[in-house]
Amino acid sequence: MRILVLGGDGYLGWPTALHLSQTGHEVAVADNFARRGYDNELGAESLVPIESLQTRVAVWRELTGKSIGVYIGDLCEADFTSAMIKEFRPDAVVHFAEQRAAPYSMIDRKHAVYTQVNNVVGTMNLLYAIAEIDPSIHLVKLGTMGEYGTPNIDIEEGWLEVTHNGRTDRVLYPKRPGSFYHLSKVHDSHNIEFACRIWNLAATDLNQGVVYGQQTPETALDDRLATRFDYDAVFGTVLNRFVIQAVLGRPLTVYGAGGQTRGILDIRDTVRCIQLACENPAQPGEFRVFNQMTESMSIKDIAATVARCFPGEVTIEHLDNPRVEREEHYYNVVHTGLVELGLEPHLLSDTLISSLFDITKRYAHRVNAELMLPKVNWRVSAV
Ligand SMILES: NC(=O)c1ccc[n+]([C@@H]2O[C@H](COP(=O)([O-])OP(=O)(O)OC[C@H]3O[C@@H](n4cnc5c(N)ncnc54)[C@H](O)[C@@H]3O)[C@@H](O)[C@H]2O)c1
Repeated sequence: MRILVLGGDGYLGWPTALHLSQTGHEVAVADNFARRGYDNELGAESLVPIESLQTRVAVWRELTGKSIGVYIGDLCEADFTSAMIKEFRPDAVVHFAEQRAAPYSMIDRKHAVYTQVNNVVGTMNLLYAIAEIDPSIHLVKLGTMGEYGTPNIDIEEGWLEVTHNGRTDRVLYPKRPGSFYHLSKVHDSHNIEFACRIWNLAATDLNQGVVYGQQTPETALDDRLATRFDYDAVFGTVLNRFVIQAVLGRPLTVYGAGGQTRGILDIRDTVRCIQLACENPAQPGEFRVFNQMTESMSIKDIAATVARCFPGEVTIEHLDNPRVEREEHYYNVVHTGLVELGLEPHLLSDTLISSLFDITKRYAHRVNAELMLPKVNWRVSAV
């Protein structure tokens, strides 16, 4: 298949592009390097050094003989997006290219507006490009489990059958997300469902859990193929951040009581899920939703697991929660769709954590500990 990976310079987009290329697909990536720009803005950097996109692609070609096409540009520019779809003519588009940090979206008005404009407008331009150029292109869109929030009922895969006053209908699952970033994904989901309904597009919305891990078999082939590994309080996802804090001898910072429970998955399962979604497309007119996660764990359980596996002293510190969220709640997620397509999940194992400890030790000298303390608060202050 011809597969275009949008956001292909990012944490997940790059390993996904390699995996799809390795499994025999014709791959191109697109990116505007916004993520590298946020690093400059925040004074942060991936713990593991990453090469430029051009070097990464050249190294992959040198090692495997496989080419990956490159498009540099912003999805918010409609002409760029359309021209790229017209030129590459993909069978599937995997869309990772959004601002993806909840804390970044909650810094202030400017960052909230940027996040929603970047994410919603980019996706709208893409929907129009697909509808106008070739409606048979399958859109595989990354959403997040955070779109659902923490409802007091089971979380179904995107849709809910509701009986009201004696009548029954199948409706989009009601969402109650916890940040302006997560809300941008809810807006995307509604726009995509609408496009499937009125233009007969085929789309898969992957409501992905929090990803952990830094290596896939492909990125491990050469240091120059490494993907990013973030530890700062804005972009570092929770398990990665705890591992780094443990190695550095810093307390693991649990926000509030730590009963907040989230769906999680290994980066090796992310790339496999995308492959399965591309190779088993949605039908024309279908808005298909999968909950892309393999396990649920509370933040305090994740901290306890890291502490148990680390070969040394680990302390856990409960900070005042900078977020506004429930700290104890019901959480039960249906996630059978991808397993039915053949996913064999990696569970959070000691092996993975130990490999993360090794990676972190190797690059510990690059850490700026200042960046680990949360400074973004969900509450607005009076001006
Ligand atoms: N990392 C996670 O744990 C996680 C969990 C759930 C969902 N997701 C979703 O998966 C996707 C990828 O996440 P990630 O962790 O790899 O993020 P990332 O920030 O590392 O990668 C996103 C890439 O998209 C690019 N991009 C952003 N806006 C763009 C635009 N307008 N035009 C072109 N390129 C643009 C960025 O430069 C970046 O390289 C995101 O949509 C995110 O919401 C990630």
